[in-house]
Amino acid sequence: MSGQTAPAQPGASISVDVPAKINPHLGVGDPRADGYHALSTVYQAISLHDTVTAERRGEPGIAITVSGEGAGTLPTGEENLAHKAAKLVALYAGIEPDVRLHLNKRIPVAGGLAGGSADAAGTLVACARLWQVEIGDAELHRLAAGLGSDVPFCLKGGTAIGAGRGEELTPVQAKGTWHWVVATTDTQISTPECYKEVDRLREDGIGRYSSDVDPIVRAFEGGAGAEELARLLINDMEAAAVSLRPQLASLMHGGLEEGALAAHVSGSGPTVLFLATDVKHAVALARRIRMRGGAKSVHLARGPVNGPAA
Ligand code: C5P
Repeated sequence: MSGQTAPAQPGASISVDVPAKINPHLGVGDPRADGYHALSTVYQAISLHDTVTAERRGEPGIAITVSGEGAGTLPTGEENLAHKAAKLVALYAGIEPDVRLHLNKRIPVAGGLAGGSADAAGTLVACARLWQVEIGDAELHRLAAGLGSDVPFCLKGGTAIGAGRGEELTPVQAKGTWHWVVATTDTQISTPECYKEVDRLREDGIGRYSSDVDPIVRAFEGGAGAEELARLLINDMEAAAVSLRPQLASLMHGGLEEGALAAHVSGSGPTVLFLATDVKHAVALARRIRMRGGAKSVHLARGPVNGPAA
């Protein structure tokens, strides 16, 4: 079928909301032979989301436009993960890609919230629907894993244990909703840079692999209150993120002084998550953190939420 154009109606358009991810538990092991680090993590999708819109452009090719958070800083060519995702779906279907992708971003770029992976996951789903390509779950997962370690989770959403380099998922049935204040900063941290810093600190004897996800999984499954969850949050990348961007320490400390139950670096940072007791507490906490200054933007988010292919 190679070279044929896709079968959807010209002008057809599909929009998909795709959530950011957080890692309430992020255990980072040693680098593997392939350079990736072994992970023992628990992912959760939160209500902060990007919207991916895919539309037939009426001529072959993949065009990308971006609006919202970080627009202007993101590449719109072949290096964009959404571009790679669209190309993969077309390759899988044996069709010539014909799509205009619009990414309306709310998830901070390079913030440790898997914004790029979310856009890739949303694009896989949107393009498959636009071009009416039947992709089974296992195949979709394989395409997603080829795009990045977090992309399979971004497809599914909810709560899940991640093993391997993060792509081996086991769903967790979380009973409840937890409320977060998401504070972004005006710096970025590249994921590889943060992993390298983890390795460097380990050589100096700082930090160890938190491989046991059982306590936090049991807490989610049992509908634990926010106070209990606060005691179980773990991020093995936190020291590395703070070492790279020392200003994170004062942001975290400030949120705790304002009454957050916990301050938790999101993934490889530099976004900081503050856990609130409930939605009312989250609203008040967000206002106080905003007034204090030090954060670029402050959002409210709840989790878990579903992903685009759940
Ligand atoms: O998988 P992804 O492309 O998102 O990863 C980006 C980079 O982060 C990798 O190239 C690698 O340097 C690092 N990484 C890692 N171990 C993981 C996941 C990512 O070292 N488990």
